[in-house]
Amino acid sequence: MDKRLEKAFNDQINAELYSEYLYLAMKTYFKKANLLGFANWFDVQVQEEHAHGMGMYEYVLERGGDIEFKAIEKPEMKANDILGIMEEVLNHEKWVTSNINALTDVAEEVKDRAAISFLDWYIKEQVEEEANVSKLITTLKLIGDDKHALLMLDKELATRVFNPPVIG
Ligand code: FEO
Repeated sequence: MDKRLEKAFNDQINAELYSEYLYLAMKTYFKKANLLGFANWFDVQVQEEHAHGMGMYEYVLERGGDIEFKAIEKPEMKANDILGIMEEVLNHEKWVTSNINALTDVAEEVKDRAAISFLDWYIKEQVEEEANVSKLITTLKLIGDDKHALLMLDKELATRVFNPPVIG
């Protein structure tokens, strides 16, 4: 694997593991608030991000590349309310999308057709990730200060389950 592409993959593995860590921090916020459905929603996010990182990890190894173990940054949660946190998730996912796009640009520059094809899964996944959280933001705006509706949403989010993705 081209060294520049290998580095870009390693950066993205780190970004996915940072996402896992960030969502773990958010899950903790909701556990402490006793909104266990939201906590469950974030638990699925945590597992998905781990799977995203590991998918790239396996791919780099499969291609004969090296894994670089870099420090995972401390997660920075700026918001302190439900809507604010969800907006932070959307912004974070947009950042991830731009990183995946930049990684795909590198794969294109070095003409690595196999890597371009592999990354296609991630590009599609990002569309879904952004759509999921956008819908949740719309619902939260609709709910406003209605505590009863918020608890109903919490119950609904408790049903979300993690389905291990088949990547690539
Ligand atoms: Fe791995 Fe939420 O993107």
